[in-house]
Amino acid sequence: MIPTLLKAASARLAAAGIEDAREDARALLRHALGLDAAGMIARGVAAPLSEGEAARFEALIVRREAREPLSQIIGSVGFWTLDLIVTRDVLTPRSDTETLVRAALARITDRSAPLKILDVATGTGAIALALLSELPNAHAIATDISPAALEIAKANAARNQLSGRIRFLETGWADGVEGRFDLLVSNPPYIAPEVIATLEPEVRDFEPLLALDGGQGGLAPYPHLLHEARRLLNPGGHALFEIGHDQGAPVLELARAAGFRSARILADLAGHDRVLAVHN
Ligand SMILES: C[S@@+](CC[C@H](N)C(=O)[O-])C[C@H]1O[C@@H](n2cnc3c(N)ncnc32)[C@H](O)[C@@H]1O
Repeated sequence: MIPTLLKAASARLAAAGIEDAREDARALLRHALGLDAAGMIARGVAAPLSEGEAARFEALIVRREAREPLSQIIGSVGFWTLDLIVTRDVLTPRSDTETLVRAALARITDRSAPLKILDVATGTGAIALALLSELPNAHAIATDISPAALEIAKANAARNQLSGRIRFLETGWADGVEGRFDLLVSNPPYIAPEVIATLEPEVRDFEPLLALDGGQGGLAPYPHLLHEARRLLNPGGHALFEIGHDQGAPVLELARAAGFRSARILADLAGHDRVLAVHN
């Protein structure tokens, strides 16, 4: 019976140190059965699992017990209103990053304008694709140094019917990007190297180091990104960068040193510093 099975699986995940053990067990059961939430309700809980279904569920629970991220096991995650493919080659987009998307949209006075967006270090493409989904006449360039990440981002653009308005560029930060943009957005790696070993196993052992390691103090990308923002923003354009919760003060200083007179730190829904917003 499904309730008994779920109870046992949740207990195993909780024993492995997983906080949302019940929710994860449910999600993995749905995945093993190939059903969405509505499909699960229709199936009901009385019918036992077939041998194949039980074996598939067990294999998924074993992976999650080993702390493989749920998003990588399932192969996708919800971000903004989109469904994005996730593999071991990309950082799983976080809900914190939706703060940056929200703040960027709040700075657009006319959402139907033909805006030009640059997303530096795009990973799954999360930020650029979320923005394009809200700005019907905008076009974006998205960069990443990881060819594997760019393949995922391309697939995500296609999956969300946005391929026609985004171009991908394999490069370091914005090297080689020319032209001027109305919005420059970036969620660069911003974790200090010595902190990475202390992170939860899902991040430390399964997410790409390239997506995490922000060099000294986790701050290494920002001077370069701010310099590029000065080079590439249109007059009146905005740049928004995701930051770590304890990086507000140092990045504000970097923004002022880069010559941005208007620089603000914005908080996420939990009240933590999360975004540096500057404009020309
Ligand atoms: C924290 S992840 C962010 C991914 C995505 N923008 C998001 O918000 O979910 C950082 C990304 O930076 C990329 N990256 C690291 N160093 C880079 C560099 N020098 N130039 C361009 N991209 C880089 C990584 O490959 C990774 O995809």
